[in-house]
Amino acid sequence: MFIPEEKVSEILNTSDIVDIVSESVILKKSGRNFFGLCPFHSEKTPSFSVNPSKQIFHCFGCSAGGNVLTYVMKYHGLSFPEAVKMIARRYNIAIETRELDPEKRRQIQLKEKLFRLNNRVMQYYHNCLKSGSQSVEAREYLNQRGLSGDMVDEFKLGFSPDAWDSVVRQFKGFKTSKNAAVQSGLVLKRQQSDGYYDRFRNRIMFPIFDVNMQVAGFGGRVMDDAMPKYMNSPETPVYNKSRILYGLHAAKQHCRQQGILYIVEGYFDFLSLYQHGIKNTVATLGTALTPDHIRILKGYASKMVLVFDSDAAGISAAKRSIKLFGKEGVDTRVLVLPDGSDPDSYVVKYGQKAFKKLADGAKSVIPFLLKVSTDTHGLSVEGRIKILDDMKVHLSQIQDSALRSLHVKELAEILKIDEKAVLEKVRDQALNQSGKKGSLTGVEPVQEHPESDPREKQMISIMLNYPQILEDVRKTKVLDSFYSERLRRLGKKIANVTPGENAFITSVMASLDNDDDQSLIASLVIGDNFSEQNAHPAAQSIINRIIRVRKKNENILTNKIISAEKGSDSEWELLKLKQKEIQQLHEH
Ligand code: CTP
Ligand code: MN
Repeated sequence: MFIPEEKVSEILNTSDIVDIVSESVILKKSGRNFFGLCPFHSEKTPSFSVNPSKQIFHCFGCSAGGNVLTYVMKYHGLSFPEAVKMIARRYNIAIETRELDPEKRRQIQLKEKLFRLNNRVMQYYHNCLKSGSQSVEAREYLNQRGLSGDMVDEFKLGFSPDAWDSVVRQFKGFKTSKNAAVQSGLVLKRQQSDGYYDRFRNRIMFPIFDVNMQVAGFGGRVMDDAMPKYMNSPETPVYNKSRILYGLHAAKQHCRQQGILYIVEGYFDFLSLYQHGIKNTVATLGTALTPDHIRILKGYASKMVLVFDSDAAGISAAKRSIKLFGKEGVDTRVLVLPDGSDPDSYVVKYGQKAFKKLADGAKSVIPFLLKVSTDTHGLSVEGRIKILDDMKVHLSQIQDSALRSLHVKELAEILKIDEKAVLEKVRDQALNQSGKKGSLTGVEPVQEHPESDPREKQMISIMLNYPQILEDVRKTKVLDSFYSERLRRLGKKIANVTPGENAFITSVMASLDNDDDQSLIASLVIGDNFSEQNAHPAAQSIINRIIRVRKKNENILTNKIISAEKGSDSEWELLKLKQKEIQQLHEH
């Protein structure tokens, strides 16, 4: 698939990077730029910036950067044409595509086909649920669990008939290829004989939507005590368990509005809370939260409450989350529901207000673990020692030293133990842990190139932001004196860009074909410390300086060559070679 260049520039000119990034990152304006927590690495303080006038993003932490297309590709894991199409759809820009890389094309077509199949099967299951005598029990079951008809419709719940070939026959009707049918995960190949059979039979079906409202996969529940209670789609080209969160497509706007979200485990937990008006909820579908999940979620809210139905589950999740959430700068709380309830049964029984009240009392991770530990051991002398032993493990995992010392202080007060003694325990524990992992000493720091000059970057930054300087750059051939081969190459590209209908930066970005170059250029655009008034003189002094320094080095070299003529042959050869290189650079 090939997208004509004019379409790409139309998209770059029409789209707004702040709009697009805001869909996945909470942005706050500060001066000329917007800032937020970087979606591409773990961080607690915002170093991810978006510049609306230049239409680029840059992270000062991990140095990811680029234009709106780079962002969409990186964030959604899309190829270039997929990203173009996604933005085009959003701004109602029609694109016709030409064919290109056949392998890529096959992958994209397969994904589109799977989404289409899933969508049709979702519709089929939904129809099966809504009418017919086969699904009386299913309708009865949902009714008895208190789910409203509106919820069934909004989340397109369905029913998979009690047969081996319902979806197989649907697929035949759609003329689906065998390959796509199997890749969808909805049917399986028979072991003993020819043919295929349905994965989901006689189950309540839950379509799982991705954030763009496309059906990525399904879950299915039996209506009695049969095992397994739930069955889910396998991983497919469109269903990735570690990234998908049930309900996010519907919950995202509510999470944004409220700045807080609830993370529950199950389909019914999500659906019941949602039906009871607690719409800022997502479900992990029984799998452990992954760093990807958290990175996706923190684009929607900065506070998260993990809701669990038992102490044991809550404790192990809380322990895991110290590291996971701590790194992401997310305010995390743990809510364990009273014995025997899960979020679904609790809210059905006690209602929304009671749930909200419990949630308001949800404790942060460390206080939660402390409460669990004190409940277990009591506050006798032996008990307090045991609590300290429990807590030192958790405290030693907190990366933020200020936060850690706050908790140490608090713990010391509660246990009535000297703060220094607590601190020592935590330190010992931290040392033990790092000892086990093998220390990092002995790793050589990366050597800076001896001949590198920060002015070269400043020069490029000025060229990007004040293109009126380009004429001087061309005339003085300063780029030829750059030590950095990469900056020289990029500089020449920039000097060759003629701003047409596009903004200059947009044209420069479009002329770069690799991610690393785009990131570097974005960082240099954003890292602009000059003003309209001083850019020109600054540029001229940088140009002079670069050229002078290189000249001086050349002279030193010449002198060295003269004195080396009396010394060893090899040194002399080497120096001559070097001088030749420098001369060649100037001959361009
Ligand atoms: N799960 C699963 N496979 C199973 C059991 C559970 O995929 N065999 C997932 C489902 O997404 C389920 C979630 O883990 O919703 C939580 O499991 P559990 O607490 O056992 O079920 P509930 O959600 O409470 O289900 P229900 O209320 O329908 O009994
Ligand atoms: Mn349940």
